[in-house]
Amino acid sequence: MNVCVIGTGYVGLVTGAVFADLGNEVYCVDNDKRKIEMLNRGEMPIYEPGLKEMVRRNVEDGRLFFFTSVAKGMKSAKVIFIAVGTPSRANGETDLSAVAAVAKDIALHLDDYKIIVNKSTAPVGTGNFVRNVIEKYQRTNVEFDVVSNPEFLKEGCAIADCLYPDRIVIGVSNHHVAMALLELYAPLERPMLITDVESAEVIKYASNAFLATKISFINFIANLCEKAGADVSLVAKGMGYDSRIGKDFLQAGLGYGGSCFPKDTLSLLHTARNFREDTSLLEAVVKINQERVPKFVGRIEQKLNPIKGKVVGVLGLAFKPNTDDLRDAKSLEIINNLLKKKAIIRVYDPVAMENASTILKNVTFCKNAYEVAHGADALVIVTDWNEFKLLNLEKLRQEMRKPYLFDGRNIYNKERAERAGFEYFCIGKR
Ligand code: UDX
Repeated sequence: MNVCVIGTGYVGLVTGAVFADLGNEVYCVDNDKRKIEMLNRGEMPIYEPGLKEMVRRNVEDGRLFFFTSVAKGMKSAKVIFIAVGTPSRANGETDLSAVAAVAKDIALHLDDYKIIVNKSTAPVGTGNFVRNVIEKYQRTNVEFDVVSNPEFLKEGCAIADCLYPDRIVIGVSNHHVAMALLELYAPLERPMLITDVESAEVIKYASNAFLATKISFINFIANLCEKAGADVSLVAKGMGYDSRIGKDFLQAGLGYGGSCFPKDTLSLLHTARNFREDTSLLEAVVKINQERVPKFVGRIEQKLNPIKGKVVGVLGLAFKPNTDDLRDAKSLEIINNLLKKKAIIRVYDPVAMENASTILKNVTFCKNAYEVAHGADALVIVTDWNEFKLLNLEKLRQEMRKPYLFDGRNIYNKERAERAGFEYFCIGKR
């Protein structure tokens, strides 16, 4: 099938590459000329394990193309995916201006039947919104269908999530259009759910908000464990054995960050308020998440008192491992908080240093974890990269001026850290 994907961010680029790898002819479009030039040179604008190789293979085999023009990209495509950014406005509302601009562009070049699929995370009602924009601007009276097909991929394992999704949700308004999408996804041999457009749109937000709720719930339990002398890791394990609860997304820590959960929970809150629904449950989820960093920094401050002039080493900048994404990263919140208190900051991340250098000022970028630890009064683990789990703790301690280790992701064992000479602080246990 010939497919056009508009937007080459995490969702668009990975989706396009995977569709090409399944044997389709895929035209990826982005209005960012620099990105398209990079992609045409075989360079990736984002870090995602396995993506570069997949893109190169499909470009070489003549199945994957990159354009800046929507007209060119959609010309011979049967299905057009919209996968552009849907950021939050200050009030939590989703900003649909990029979706609207793409819909208008599609309308202006629509000269035969197309299936227009929204993959961008956008609130319930966006399918209708896209339809209205296209109807307003289309120049020829041709038929089209609008579908909602939310993406559930996680950064860092986006290709595997795209190839082996837990489910494929297809929100359609008629049977005929569902068949085309079923055909496209059939090679994956994964469970497919056909719904109406609105239900598909809600499924995406409900899923992300539910996962965010799990994280905030375990962080609430972590607070309780610290006071009661319990161990949140054991509590999560004990809960996770119950198949109704499940063991995933019960990792207590600094809370959820990234490009999805913070914005999607706020967007769902906004939608619910618009429908005059009681939002107290979701408000609590957001509040618990927002309190994670101030609470963590409070503990650092208690120990280093005063923070002013103290050297704090930060390990991990990306919002989670295996990505270079810093959007809503807890590292930025922690660093800015510590900088305000006049700490001296040294940082290292295995892949997010380049991105961080454009955002973070007044910090020292180091070559590795040991350099970060050099002369530090405290070391803070912010992202649970695997390479941090395997550090030589004795060597790390020797580099430091003071022995304080604040583990925001519970990656070390307390006894092990203490044996290496650290005074160790973690989440949800004494
Ligand atoms: C998320 C959803 O998982 C994915 O389905 C959706 O398509 C996009 O949003 P992503 O943001 O890439 O994916 O990362 P994810 O692995 O879900 O982690 C989100 C945040 O939650 C990270 O900051 C992570 O550190 C945090 N987290 C996750 C926890 O604090 N505890 C956990 O147990 C799991």
